[in-house]
Amino acid sequence: MKERIVSGIRPTGALHLGHYLGVLKQWVELQKKYDCFYFIADWHALTSEYKNPSIIKTSVKDMVITWLGVGIDPEKSTIFRQSDIKEHAEFFLLLSMITPLSWLERNPTYKELKDELKEKDLGTFGFLGYPVLQAADIVMYHADRVPIGEDQLPHLELTREIARRFNFLYGDKLLKEPKEILAEAPKVAGLDGRKMSKSYNNAIWIEESPASLKEKVSQMLTDTKRKTKKDKGDPKDCNLYPLHIYFTDEEQRKDIQHGCKTASMGCVECKKILVASLEKELIPVWDRIKYFKTHTKDVDDILDKGATYARKQAEETMQKVRSVLCLSK
Ligand code: TRP
Repeated sequence: MKERIVSGIRPTGALHLGHYLGVLKQWVELQKKYDCFYFIADWHALTSEYKNPSIIKTSVKDMVITWLGVGIDPEKSTIFRQSDIKEHAEFFLLLSMITPLSWLERNPTYKELKDELKEKDLGTFGFLGYPVLQAADIVMYHADRVPIGEDQLPHLELTREIARRFNFLYGDKLLKEPKEILAEAPKVAGLDGRKMSKSYNNAIWIEESPASLKEKVSQMLTDTKRKTKKDKGDPKDCNLYPLHIYFTDEEQRKDIQHGCKTASMGCVECKKILVASLEKELIPVWDRIKYFKTHTKDVDDILDKGATYARKQAEETMQKVRSVLCLSK
């Protein structure tokens, strides 16, 4: 029996190379060894986007198409939308009964985000309960492992605590305590040198046209010592070079290292190589995205099939849960 993976992403806009390197490539790899459940966390998105839910509408399908484009394979993995499985909401409600408020209030991710996103009015019950919904997502499918970034570790710890408390109250081993698979944050910066992020408007999207990709790479900040082609630089001070580490083969990287340090290669040429490396990796992704954009019925079928399978598993878990909580006949 393969171990089970559960993970989700909130549909709050397009995905960029940071997501690609930090999350999606790992998800694709994990399909080889694990029984993976990947879902669109649309209810989670609403906890912060409740004033402007239209972003969710446009993001859900685009996001699934991007997943399929990068190689998440519906033959291997279960792909679904959270809100298609109403059992998540029911489980969230039931888990909320046993979750002490203090556990939620002391959650560092909660405190940070609430302060950071002041304009979004996150002093809501739903936002405080975010990790309880996340716990429901995970323990519903008896996940062994959850691939997440470091910022999500407090949430996973809460999931374990909630599962433990549930088992303590209602019976040993009803729910599984999941472990993390920590995704390393990719060291790529955005066009302006700051962290790549939608809100900084500095992202290279997974889905770009060849022209926009070229244009964006040409804008990227390089080693500021290289004011002209004759100035020597150093890849370690260049904003662009980390992308070469991920996308350009070793031989060419050696040439770039040498060319930059001796000023025998200019930034324009170095950027051309990067564009070629990115295209090599992304053209097959773009082709698959194009296919699914013109075959949206396939995407609907994939989501339906995923939901049917996930619902069956969720129903099994909920029958046990309802029974120990005296909610079944
Ligand atoms: N909180 C996660 C994030 O913002 C998204 C998420 C929701 C999730 N439910 C999950 C991740 C369950 C892993 C498992 O990235």
